[in-house]
Amino acid sequence: MIKKIGVLTSGGDAPGMNAAVRAVVRTALSKGMEVYGIHRGYVGLISGEIEKMDARSVSDIIHRGGTMLCTARCPEFRTEEGVEKAKATCEELGLEGIVVIGGDGSFRGAADLSARGILCVGLPGTIDNDIACTDYTIGYDTAMNTAMELVDKLRDTSQSHDRCTVVEVMGRNAGFIAVNTGAACGAIAVITKEMPYDLDDIAKKMLEAKKHGKENFVVVVAEGIGHADEIAKVLQEKTNIEARATVLGHVQRGGSPTLRDRVVATEMGYYAVELLEQGIGNRVVGMRDNKIVDFDIQEALAMKKPYDEKLHHIVEEIAL
Ligand code: ADP
Ligand code: F6P
Repeated sequence: MIKKIGVLTSGGDAPGMNAAVRAVVRTALSKGMEVYGIHRGYVGLISGEIEKMDARSVSDIIHRGGTMLCTARCPEFRTEEGVEKAKATCEELGLEGIVVIGGDGSFRGAADLSARGILCVGLPGTIDNDIACTDYTIGYDTAMNTAMELVDKLRDTSQSHDRCTVVEVMGRNAGFIAVNTGAACGAIAVITKEMPYDLDDIAKKMLEAKKHGKENFVVVVAEGIGHADEIAKVLQEKTNIEARATVLGHVQRGGSPTLRDRVVATEMGYYAVELLEQGIGNRVVGMRDNKIVDFDIQEALAMKKPYDEKLHHIVEEIAL
């Protein structure tokens, strides 16, 4: 029976991480375990920046963005020595298991620690939704809603000036936020790494739509493509329609999590502690077809996530 566990957040923060921390802490307490909050991800695990949590430690955080435990990137943890130091911290405190809330990089670290006998369970926390074993990551829904609201605002000014707004949304390696935001905001085009694109075709489409009375345009570009400025310039040259570029940036990572992010974080946090309670580690928790599931970390890391090509085509087809 596992009696002492820790929880940490690692990599880029995501709205809903706090709800996940709360669920882990409260579940552990309800099951009679001791639970420790590890600050700044693996940095805190190496340096011992760790505090014992009680029910009140996680009061008033379920609705807050960011992470009360803070997060960090920790190059030292990628070394043998770093992982050994982290293991020593766990042994000193008697931590038998750790819930790691983060992305693929954080899960690689969790696998290294699991291999040294510290049971780790990963929870997918990233706005990019680029974790293959789960349909859904904590923070994704909030980030998409934030992007949608911001593009709506851009659209107001774009409409007033008969302009084209080219907007870059986050997703260094994935176009999931881009394609969904494009669909939700009626974009004329979505540009992601996953699909081929041609600015000549987009310009032709804009001119065709203009012939039929369309006066303003939204083009959503995924961060992985970049160059929103350049794309706006080229589209303006090709169409003679004034274009402006906006990069939404880190504002998409902040804000109060949506209901969906809070609920999923709560379910996943609960499930992670159930796994640890049974002495099960080296797992990643995910959501498949609305059910909470878990996978071996290495298997999860080897999976490939399909891009929603169908949605991409729908956006293109109905942009008239
Ligand atoms: P994310 O978890 O969001 O993918 P990162 O890739 O920045 O974010 O990873 C977060 C942390 O996880 C890193 O700073 C490092 O401490 C650890 N990590 C990343 N990749 C590895 C790896 N290949 N092996 C061990 N630890 C890793
Ligand atoms: O959280 C994921 C993500 O937002 C990516 O889309 C982005 O490229 C990256 O994090 C940037 O993170 P940071 O600025 O913290 O390095």
